[in-house]
Amino acid sequence: MDINTIRKETRGCENKIFLNSAGSSLVPDPVFDRVISYLTEEAEVGGYALAHSTLEETEEFYSEAARLLNCNPENIAYMTSATDAYAKAISSIEFKEGDVILTTDDDYVSNQLTFISLKKRIGIKIIRAVNLPGGDLDLVAFEQQVKTYQPKLVALTHIPTSSGLVQDAEKVGEICHKYKIWYLLDACQSVGQLVVDVKKIKCDFLTATGRKFLRGPRGTGFLYVSDAALGAGLAPLLIDMLGAKWTSKEDYKIEPTAKRFEFWESSIAGKLGLKEAMKYVNTIGMAVVEQYNASLMVAFRTKLTAIKGLHLQDRGTHVSNILTFTMDHHTTEEISEHLKQYGVYFSVSSKASALIDFTRKSIDSAIRLSPHYFNTPEELEKVVAILNF
Ligand SMILES: Cc1ncc(COP(=O)(O)O)c(C=O)c1O
Repeated sequence: MDINTIRKETRGCENKIFLNSAGSSLVPDPVFDRVISYLTEEAEVGGYALAHSTLEETEEFYSEAARLLNCNPENIAYMTSATDAYAKAISSIEFKEGDVILTTDDDYVSNQLTFISLKKRIGIKIIRAVNLPGGDLDLVAFEQQVKTYQPKLVALTHIPTSSGLVQDAEKVGEICHKYKIWYLLDACQSVGQLVVDVKKIKCDFLTATGRKFLRGPRGTGFLYVSDAALGAGLAPLLIDMLGAKWTSKEDYKIEPTAKRFEFWESSIAGKLGLKEAMKYVNTIGMAVVEQYNASLMVAFRTKLTAIKGLHLQDRGTHVSNILTFTMDHHTTEEISEHLKQYGVYFSVSSKASALIDFTRKSIDSAIRLSPHYFNTPEELEKVVAILNF
């Protein structure tokens, strides 16, 4: 991995230490350039004419996403965000009163709100998996829960928004496959950070966003839909003229590919920007990025642990590029002010987005640092020194 070129092509990484890729990362120049050039041309000829003449390039969006996830372009739908993808995926499952969604304590806040909404409206049951003392899922208990409750859906967040935990998505996939349960994976924080292979994970749906570790533009994302889900006719509850053809007064024919989950209107500039972002990381190679990230984080975590009174809040045997911590002698606000003074970009995770996890940890908030492959070990050493205050 040529870190010097990568940094040269990341205009935002100068004069600051940018550690917020779990929030909204810095786009590489090819992404920036394509979005700007597209919008410039759109201002000249109008949205429809340009969309028509760039159809072939737009299709590359699907092949780059397919390359990233190890699937076919037909399994990919373009979305405006991970939440958009999630809502459409979940709406394709016909829940009835008493149906069970099996999920975890660490699943994303908006996903939990969706489950609660389905519970209030339809009367589904939410069952949450058991964690081992170290924070990992208890997979033996998980399989037992699958057998006992026969859930209609298993919903797992691969990497939670406010802790470094990486859930064992493959093992969960094996269990879902064995018992033929629909499996929805929220890979919003893992795509672009780790190798995510849907053939190995065996999920039916996977949701991702553009702006985080993929380094794409805001307002973009995608949904993966398995052949099994497409073959079973799963389609979003609310469709439009891209997802289906109006065939008679009372009927329609659904689009055969995952595009049935898309809406007709979308940002083509955003789509081409995200295509460039995926092409960028596909060219570097996800395995290379994952390896670089892992070594960056091992050293960072080790050095931070040595600071007296600093507590890493990440649990689990496999942790990621999301690092959360608190300090005994400084509040989150004090640490935030201190980091800002030194030009460190980061975010704060609050209990409102990690209700179960932070209640269990007895914390109200934590500082979240999320380095990525354009960051250097030297930058992280500086941050360690800054935090030693
Ligand atoms: C784990 C996880 N899932 C889903 C989302 C939602 O993504 P989006 O804002 O693109 O809908 C986030 C955003 O932080 C997230 O961290």
